[in-house]
Amino acid sequence: MRRVCCAARALKTEATDRNSMPDAIPPSEGALAFFADLQPPAGDFCADVLRGLSKPQKTLDAKYFYDQAGSELFDAITRLPEYYLTRTELALLDAIGPRLRQQVGPGAVVLEPGAGSSVKIRKLIDALDEPAAYVGMDISGDHVKSACASIAADYPGLTVGAVCHDFTQAIDLSELPLPEGKRVVFFPGSTIGNFELIDAQALLSVLRGYLRPGDGLLIGVDLRKDGATLEAAYDDAQGVTAQFNFNLIRRLNEELDGDIDPSALVYRAHWNPYRSRVEMYLQALRDVSFTVAGQAFTLREHETIHTENSHKFTIAVFQDLARRAGLAPVDVWTDPAEAFSLHWLEVRREA
Ligand code: TRP
Repeated sequence: MRRVCCAARALKTEATDRNSMPDAIPPSEGALAFFADLQPPAGDFCADVLRGLSKPQKTLDAKYFYDQAGSELFDAITRLPEYYLTRTELALLDAIGPRLRQQVGPGAVVLEPGAGSSVKIRKLIDALDEPAAYVGMDISGDHVKSACASIAADYPGLTVGAVCHDFTQAIDLSELPLPEGKRVVFFPGSTIGNFELIDAQALLSVLRGYLRPGDGLLIGVDLRKDGATLEAAYDDAQGVTAQFNFNLIRRLNEELDGDIDPSALVYRAHWNPYRSRVEMYLQALRDVSFTVAGQAFTLREHETIHTENSHKFTIAVFQDLARRAGLAPVDVWTDPAEAFSLHWLEVRREA
């Protein structure tokens, strides 16, 4: 069952509950036009972890990186000198603002799956011509509510909604009270690169499903470059990316009753030019046995837990992937050094 609650109603109830004064609602909360809770059932975390650790190549699902502590560590990653992606994408957004404004036109409805950095979305909203609405979607309900509420507080003319949702799952947007207007799906950060290519294509198809002919997807895609630069970006000198990986181990120990000795593991980032991706691992320094949620596992010396991939594309390879997902490449922008790209993809109008 999908639960969509319209703010008008939720707002009234809250006000009555407190002191029947509608204006007693905290303005940041009250400013949300709607909140839809499509949260995946709890318990998936445990099942996913046990499944991943039971594979011949042990894996941990990267979506579990992003709890409160993980999100803070990721914010720190985006500010690292080696991690060129975020600052390059932000500068690119600044540079192409006027072109985007023209491309999109007035009154757009902006949807952001995995609403993460409010800095990027603010740049996009600022660039556009009086957008009608912004809808943030994220797997963490609390996170998306507070991020969207702060956007709503800062952009009084904008209709702002929040959805708690796992963006890898399809969603029926007709259930949301979205205003009319051209839809723009914003998917920055080269998050698309964190999926296996087959899954990236499937995710692009899911995002295409949010769009009607003439609507568009603005997506950030990191580009192929030399291995040393890439390995440094994913294994920084201060060890923040390593900590980000070890945060997953901490979660297993604390939330799933695990007893993994972190000192038996070391973080590794490896550029694989054949699969055009940085692969991230936690590698055992010695044989180590542990239990998670009552289940026993052993890692042998040198054995790895695969935690994440970050695929790097050429523009042509990414555009081919987009076409296979039914999205037509219309425009692409890069920084002068061609480190990072932003693509405008459209669902073609029927001829
Ligand atoms: N989308 C980001 C990227 O691929 C995610 C990311 C950055 C990441 N650093 C990481 C994921 C380290 C896991 C570990 O660049």
